[in-house]
Amino acid sequence: MVSYKELGLVNSKDLFQKAVKGGYAIPAFNFNNLEQMQAIIAACVETKSPVILQVSSGARKYANQTLLRFLAQGAVEYAKELGYAIPIVLHLDHGDTFELCKSCIDSGFSSVMIDGSHLSYEKNIELTKQVVEYAHAHGVTVEGELGVLAGIEDDVVAEHSSYTHPEEVEDFVKKTGVDSLAISIGTSHGANKFKPEQCTLNADGVLVPPPLKFDILEEIEKRIPGFPIVLHGASSVPAELVKTINANGGKMKDTVGIPEEQLRRAASSAVCKINIDSDGRLAMTAAVRKVFVENPGEFDPRKYLGPARDQLKVLYKHKINNVLGSADKA
Ligand code: G3H
Ligand code: 13P
Ligand code: ZN
Repeated sequence: MVSYKELGLVNSKDLFQKAVKGGYAIPAFNFNNLEQMQAIIAACVETKSPVILQVSSGARKYANQTLLRFLAQGAVEYAKELGYAIPIVLHLDHGDTFELCKSCIDSGFSSVMIDGSHLSYEKNIELTKQVVEYAHAHGVTVEGELGVLAGIEDDVVAEHSSYTHPEEVEDFVKKTGVDSLAISIGTSHGANKFKPEQCTLNADGVLVPPPLKFDILEEIEKRIPGFPIVLHGASSVPAELVKTINANGGKMKDTVGIPEEQLRRAASSAVCKINIDSDGRLAMTAAVRKVFVENPGEFDPRKYLGPARDQLKVLYKHKINNVLGSADKA
């Protein structure tokens, strides 16, 4: 049994309280490997932003759960070495069973998500409450979810979303004791969020998808004032990254993500954690493809993973400075 406290990690409680009061959101970036971790920490140290290092169960299968925990422990030391000890949360993304959450808590995670959003309301409460009881006994914070996002949530593929019902949130929060709540207001997981035909063209010739349901978010805020809200599926799918990928041999479909202005608006409200994974995948892929096209003879992984890491860092700094507003909040 390892406590996150011994590893120099923090839970999300204080970070969320400050973020809600300050009108910004903490970045929750997914990682599966060394280069992603390095890019996240370097970007957050340089901008002095707190950060949530997020691990999905897919990441655990890919990289080995013990190695990921040691990478997060290393991240604490790495941040100090880079010159600033930012607060770092190690969080399980989309946990689907009590056993998985317990295993993460027992191995040093400081925060877990129990995603019972696909279950009945009663079963969601039951499972979430069970996780909260164990987690709180160990000082670990818990994120629950109400409402279903379209796209891939770990191994569960949901084709259709269902928005969060604001009338359920107060009861859910009270009965489960969760520390934060993920909601569904029109975002979805993955890079293929909206097809161009679902969007309208604005005056600058940019495709704009249907707006997020800010009316639902406001209704939720009214019912649980000051309670930390989490936004999943918040990648913007930058057109220039998709363009670079396709210009260098890729075959990605035309796709539109969540406009950054809408995410900024969400971050200035009760949304205090914004999850970004797909944009990072696009940034890495764009950089790697470019290296291979420009230098087909390259075979040293450092020569393509290095540029991928640099591109990721640029993306994360942009998100922190221009979307989340979490710079200088560490
Ligand atoms: O919400 C899902 C995250 O983007 C993690 O994706 O399950 O492919 O690691 P993954
Ligand atoms: P994106 O696929 O939009 O990056 O969302 C990631 C996410 O919500 C992880 O939980
Ligand atoms: Zn998610």
